Amino acid sequence: MPKFPTPSRKLPPELTAHTIRRHVFWAAAITAVGGLLFGYDTGVVSGALLFLHVDFGKMSSFDKELVTSLLLVGAMVGAFFAGKVADRIGRRPTVLITAVLFIVGVLGAALSPSFSFLVVMRFVIGIAVGSASMVVPLYIGEAAPPQIRGALVSFNQLAITSGILTAYLVDYGLASSENWRLMFGLATIPAAALFVGMLFQHESPHWLIAQGREDEARVVLHRVRASTDIEAEISEVRALRHGKSRARELFDPSVRAMLTVGVLLAVFQQVTGINTIIYYAPTLLHGAGLGNSASLLANVANGAVNVGMTIVAIRLIDRVGRRPLLLGGTTGMAVALIVLALAFVIGGNHLTGATAIVAIGALLVYTGSFAIGLGPVFWLLISEIYPVGIRGQAMSVATIANWGANFVVTGSFLTLLGAIHGSGTFFLFGFLTLVALVYFQRRVPETKNRSLQAIEHDLP
Ligand code: BGC
Repeated sequence: MPKFPTPSRKLPPELTAHTIRRHVFWAAAITAVGGLLFGYDTGVVSGALLFLHVDFGKMSSFDKELVTSLLLVGAMVGAFFAGKVADRIGRRPTVLITAVLFIVGVLGAALSPSFSFLVVMRFVIGIAVGSASMVVPLYIGEAAPPQIRGALVSFNQLAITSGILTAYLVDYGLASSENWRLMFGLATIPAAALFVGMLFQHESPHWLIAQGREDEARVVLHRVRASTDIEAEISEVRALRHGKSRARELFDPSVRAMLTVGVLLAVFQQVTGINTIIYYAPTLLHGAGLGNSASLLANVANGAVNVGMTIVAIRLIDRVGRRPLLLGGTTGMAVALIVLALAFVIGGNHLTGATAIVAIGALLVYTGSFAIGLGPVFWLLISEIYPVGIRGQAMSVATIANWGANFVVTGSFLTLLGAIHGSGTFFLFGFLTLVALVYFQRRVPETKNRSLQAIEHDLP
């Protein structure tokens, strides 16, 4: 196993509340660069695809699908290993390894001598994306104090959405030069920043306690908690370390119930259609009769709404709680999808005038509603509802389900559009969103303002 520097065991002097907040904020912001890479690498390919033929000759639909979807397969593999690795060697080395994989993948993709090399590199980037998608919320959730944990973990979602928007803008900006290599390669900068930034961060305090390394945990906690809260937190986390075998613990009835909640949240986050919009909005709008530049503009507006509403979610999530945002946001998504479907029913497959405006409006409301609810709340909740000893592995299961569902939905979307048109497709997503709403109302717990230990203690 690679060796990374561990923090010194000497306790620092008492820090001011301001300094503590600064430490927590930086820990979250640096780690969230992993989210930026997740968003950028999933978003950038749509533009890059247009220019691969410059170096590799004519691209078939299959070739394009391969470059796009191998990232999702890699993400499943990455999420599978990252949980085990994070529970075994720690959260911080897992982030460092992930950053190295990002650097190798994006540099390799940018310099690809052949198409098959590029395909392999997209798989490597996928492994890094899958790993980052779970280890970032995991790390931030354990470093953050309960009162602001929702906002800090949701920095990750803000970074994802900013990464997607940046990718759209880079694709747009580089389109005239047809420089697909630079489109991929620019991600080397945040990947290197993640690696260097993480070198200066400490291991997650909860993981250290779960390993029995309380002296080190105490040093880390002194940086991110008021000193009056530290001993109680250490003894609470210690009390939750029980002797059961880790793998077996995953199948404990209490964990199993929450595993189901995590997996269904993951699946609903995808089968309600978000990535059909994120990946295909320009294709969809263009196909529906909008001009090229209008489609691209609507796409950038959609990306901006995604970022903007995530900021609103960050401001609200610790005040109003997870459930109201989740239920309110999912309701908004359902209404918008049904309106979108109706626009296709009325306008047919070629939207013009009023139906085009209604469709674009519905798209923006849909994305905004996702951004305020199911987007951030899924990643936050799966970092909160699992026992500390197997948190990484349990998050892995939910994360694999998320990438798997993403793969199935985005892989079948164009076929679905061909078979049942815009109207049928969006009615289907609308129906699935209503099913999700009923499930969330019944089963998803509120975790606002509670310590991870208290949440674990109250597991059903
Ligand atoms: C989802 C991604 C999606 C992104 C869009 C994330 O929470 O997991 O699949 O592309 O949100 O903002």
